[in-house]
Amino acid sequence: YGIFTYDPGYQSTASCSSKITYIDGDEGILLYRGYPIEQLAEHADFIEVCHLLYYGELPSQEQKQEFDSIIRHHTMVHDQVNNFYRGFRRDAHPMASMVGVAGALSAFYPDSGDVSDPRHREISAHRLLAKVPTIAAMSYKYNTGQPFAYPKNSLSYAANFLHMMFSTPCEEYVPNPVMVRAMDRIFTLHADHEQNASTSTVRLAGSSGANPFACIASGIASLWGPAHGGANEAVLNMLEEIGDVSKIPELIERAKDKSNPFRLMGFGHRVYKNFDPRANLMRQTCHEVLNELGCQDDRLFQIALELERIALEDEYFIEKKLYPNVDFYSGIVLRAIGIPTNMFTAIFAISRTIGWITQWNEMIADPEQKIGRPRQLFLGPKKRDFVPISQRR
Ligand code: CMC
Repeated sequence: YGIFTYDPGYQSTASCSSKITYIDGDEGILLYRGYPIEQLAEHADFIEVCHLLYYGELPSQEQKQEFDSIIRHHTMVHDQVNNFYRGFRRDAHPMASMVGVAGALSAFYPDSGDVSDPRHREISAHRLLAKVPTIAAMSYKYNTGQPFAYPKNSLSYAANFLHMMFSTPCEEYVPNPVMVRAMDRIFTLHADHEQNASTSTVRLAGSSGANPFACIASGIASLWGPAHGGANEAVLNMLEEIGDVSKIPELIERAKDKSNPFRLMGFGHRVYKNFDPRANLMRQTCHEVLNELGCQDDRLFQIALELERIALEDEYFIEKKLYPNVDFYSGIVLRAIGIPTNMFTAIFAISRTIGWITQWNEMIADPEQKIGRPRQLFLGPKKRDFVPISQRR
């Protein structure tokens, strides 16, 4: 098509160059700044991973302490932010309130609009990283009718999030180290995934020089869809709907039926045509958490294991190279921690905030950066002359 190529869904278009995350979809490899996801999930905590992603290197002990204390310093939101929530219906989906509140944070930090200054960009990154868990937990508290729980800065990033979710004025949440570790691992596994839909949305929004809080709101909006971050919620609903392992073959047939739009949620990936390495780590975390709770025979976990086994032996899934993705097991872990299903995608948004803001910062700092402006294949009418309304039929 003349000077440009038609590529629906950007299946073969590189929209940018990047030094952050590498994926080899055929081999099932995921590297953050060169480090395998398996090693990071095993040995690093989320704060180290955030430092690695944003600054390009794992922190020394002192650097980690400094970075951690900066993030803890920023966890609270302006008191006026509470008023936004009161404008929502009590049953508002947490992603609906998060899209609005994340974007509205730009109103509290007028300096954040100066994106040409790396120092301003860094402060915005710190603020976003620190405050997105707070606004996510506030969305949940508002849903349940409980008072908001202020962040507690003596706690780690993951423990603090669980505290803001589950503490009430009557009863303080006591962090369980296995649950905190699982939460931290979920954050790490979802932290970045190169040019996925939401990250590309953040880059596209940011390419015009827009405010970073507004750009992250656009990422949250894109993440919400069931083909992207909304899949973890959809997986759990699907497992609940199956209800019993005997119903699995019926569901598999439904997923294979071309006349039915239904898809096996938590299966398939645009880039991975082999195992998603994050799914393996998530399955392992599932075992750890359920072991700790003494419920290895959890009904939904058993259904998921059996569903995976049957699908991986099925011709259709083998031929199309459809494997479980990260979201296939993350919902079971979150449910075991006590997180309600409608918060699953909000938790994905917390994790991915560091990826979004790092990718955004890389783009703004790139001297070759241009405003994102895809072309189109026009299939509409050719030029025609205006007809006055009295003469139209
Ligand atoms: N169940 C049944 N069939 C599927 C599935 C599935 N989950 N995924 C893909 N297919 C089929 C699809 O029907 C198509 O068949 P055909 O070639 O006969 O038309 C073929 O596989 C290729 O699918 P596609 O839609 O062209 O592939 P894509 O790269 O555009 O989509 C995907 C990738 C993740 C959107 C898709 O696999 C899907 O919808 N999966 C279920 C939703 C899900 O789990 N999403 C989470 C992704 S991982 C977390 C994240 O990054 O957000």
